[in-house]
Amino acid sequence: MSKICVIGVGYVGLVTGACLADLGNEVICLNRNQEKADNLKEGILPIYEPGLEEIVHRNLAAGRLLFTTSYDQAMEEARFVFVAVGTPSGSSGEADLAHVEAAVKGVASRIHQPLTIINKSTVPIGTGDWVADVVRENMPDPDIPFWVVSNPEFLREGSGVYDFMNPDRVVLGSTDQEAAQRVAELYYPLQTEIIITDLRTAEMIKYASNAFLATKISFINEIANVCEALGADVMDVARGMGADHRIAPQFLGAGLGWGGSCFPKDVKALIHMASTHGTNPSLLRAVTEINYDQRKRAVTKLRHILGGFRGKKIGIWGLSFKPNTDDMREAPSVEIIKLLQYEGAQVRAYDPVATENARKLLKNVTFGTDPYEVAEGADAVILVAEWNEFKQLDMTRVRDLMKQPVLIDGRNIYDPRRMKELGFTYRGMGRGYDEAGQPR
Ligand SMILES: NC(=O)c1ccc[n+]([C@@H]2O[C@H](COP(=O)([O-])OP(=O)(O)OC[C@H]3O[C@@H](n4cnc5c(N)ncnc54)[C@H](O)[C@@H]3O)[C@@H](O)[C@H]2O)c1
Repeated sequence: MSKICVIGVGYVGLVTGACLADLGNEVICLNRNQEKADNLKEGILPIYEPGLEEIVHRNLAAGRLLFTTSYDQAMEEARFVFVAVGTPSGSSGEADLAHVEAAVKGVASRIHQPLTIINKSTVPIGTGDWVADVVRENMPDPDIPFWVVSNPEFLREGSGVYDFMNPDRVVLGSTDQEAAQRVAELYYPLQTEIIITDLRTAEMIKYASNAFLATKISFINEIANVCEALGADVMDVARGMGADHRIAPQFLGAGLGWGGSCFPKDVKALIHMASTHGTNPSLLRAVTEINYDQRKRAVTKLRHILGGFRGKKIGIWGLSFKPNTDDMREAPSVEIIKLLQYEGAQVRAYDPVATENARKLLKNVTFGTDPYEVAEGADAVILVAEWNEFKQLDMTRVRDLMKQPVLIDGRNIYDPRRMKELGFTYRGMGRGYDEAGQPR
């Protein structure tokens, strides 16, 4: 049992705090917002993450999980502090460390016993050294020992709890190997590979991993576009490629590309770091460009079919940046809807979970309560986020509800031949068409 403080109660902080409590630790989660803390004490979560509510409730009841807004209370018994605050993009693409700095200063000024500070936020290479400087400058008693460990997080929103409990690896970076070992002990119950490195290498592993995954998606999207031009089917191409163990099938789903709270800002931050340190990250620039072109490509396809959007009613299925999350950060749906509206379309949209968050970002959109409502009277529907509930819809009913049955399948979840048989004008991403522009 360890006394652990986790700063930040977002997707990473709350999952980390709740899961560490579930492993038997005493955990106190700190955030700045009193209403959030009060709600959490009642078991009301600020985010949607499958399975998380149950773990929070269980550990609240067991008294192992506390919530506070007070640094004094959070630091009282803490031996380990996990920093899991946001690191959004700054104006030049760099990671903005303002939240990290505020959190570290809050901690440093209250250090009264030996403390290990563990950075889980995704931060630029060199941040661990800077954090140590900030702590030294702000701690009341310079003789109290402290250590900084980088512990990048690899969980995926939508399966955060599972990923935390079943990681492929845990990465720990520190200038002090004993400090890294102490943090490793917190992860021993997970029986996973623990990779211990220096601070900068651990920080780089996170950026390199996200950049690689983003690259894999942009790669298959580029291949998808070539497939479309030449009449091949990218789904089968990906299957054929992914069967090769050196390639692997994950992240070979062609579609509208990546979004979310991590890939866009992390790729940007890596480009910024690379270019401000004298290297030319041309691959990463291309990866980004391909990604944003995919969104426009879906709109272009629809424009070709409808001959323009003025006065057209377009339905959108799925708003969150990916299924199983309410996170709307950098969601492709936002850019697609804005492009459609700019050209005069009326947009109706439905998402199983993200509607409330979407309302804050989108104007003049009518939000439906189910996918059929959104399809009713529509000139076209675009499937943007592939929530499971869209996969087995009654497509005959959808067809009959629509003004004209035009379907842009931004995530390739439908069978093109079946959609063609049902009478849809169907376009997937990279599926290959016959001379009449119909799926083969
Ligand atoms: N979301 C993911 O899937 C994911 C995965 C891996 C890594 N990360 C990284 O983890 C970090 C956190 O991401 P997230 O998605 O959980 O962010 P988030 O926006 O969901 O949560 C951030 C939390 O930090 C809190 N916070 C900010 N400043 C604070 C302060 N000074 N004191 C106390 N609380 C403060 C916010 O209130 C919020 O609860 C980021 O660096 C991100 O890149 C995220």
